[in-house]
Amino acid sequence: MSNSPVDQHAAFLADVLKGLSSPQPSIPCKYLYDATGSELFEQICKTPEYYVTRADLALHEAHVAEFANLIGPGAHIIEFGAGSGIKTRKLLASLETPRAYTPIEISAAALAASTRDLSRAFPEIEIRPLQADYTQLIRAKDLALDPPAQRKIVYFPGSTISNFTHSEAQTFLKRMRRIAGRDGGVLIGVDLVKQQKRLLAAYDDAAGITAAFNLNLLDRLARELDAALNREDFAHEARYNSDKRRVEMHLVARRDTQIELAGQEFTFSAGQSIHTENSHKYSVRDFRQLAESAGLKIQSTWKDPEGLFSMHFLRPMAPARRAPTQ
Ligand code: AVJ
Repeated sequence: MSNSPVDQHAAFLADVLKGLSSPQPSIPCKYLYDATGSELFEQICKTPEYYVTRADLALHEAHVAEFANLIGPGAHIIEFGAGSGIKTRKLLASLETPRAYTPIEISAAALAASTRDLSRAFPEIEIRPLQADYTQLIRAKDLALDPPAQRKIVYFPGSTISNFTHSEAQTFLKRMRRIAGRDGGVLIGVDLVKQQKRLLAAYDDAAGITAAFNLNLLDRLARELDAALNREDFAHEARYNSDKRRVEMHLVARRDTQIELAGQEFTFSAGQSIHTENSHKYSVRDFRQLAESAGLKIQSTWKDPEGLFSMHFLRPMAPARRAPTQ
């Protein structure tokens, strides 16, 4: 895999052309997070409607000592995404003699910032950054330490898993299980199913920040892919898909309009949309089933007092015994 700017640009164009050509036009949600999008996402986290970040942090504040207890001494923490945030710090500060910390992150800049900040804050912990796309296969040798850690813990807070469909999430959890190995574990945040009204407000805040975050994707198409489009012809919409238990973000055409891109014209009649992100919601029961289907058993679950958000500590299930052969 190459990460050169030329390849990234080609991949962005190819993904958008493919997405816009499908019966329900869509664009992969990872493209929401350029520098502007990431900045807007940070602002979303501060809106009164977006309960996720606050509930996640409150759970860490209330239970980090229990997380640390379950993780045990001498652990290698492997975070999917670059943690320089307050949650990672809380966790690292609570651990007993941690062996090492590895953020896995595709953005070199974010990885460098995380490594710099955490090395400074935790001089006694070996910080071992890995530049990679954590949704792709991670090779065991890229995580090997000498001497090895007592156990490996995959840390994935924030309910980023919500972006995945159930089958993608299953594949992803299986990979976490492989990384953790027989003695390791997974500490993961999962957003919970709740009243639709509350969910929709969280993805359509009154200040319009989520709308700006979604519409920024159109600016990227215009600026980076040279697409011809009218931003004002599209509106942000958050929808709850109750069959799939997820909030969907769409860019809905307010009138008949078109997007010209790479010599192709994509037409939209008023009301047609581009689907830009999914945020799956789970009950604890749903998530247990999903985790077990990936060979992971829930050892502990924590919820905030309002029951908005959950954290889980998962352990690999013992492999099923093979049927005796004769
Ligand atoms: C980063 C996937 C956890 O689904 O809540 C928030 C993304 N998009 N508002 C979520 C998001 C719009 C967020 N995750």
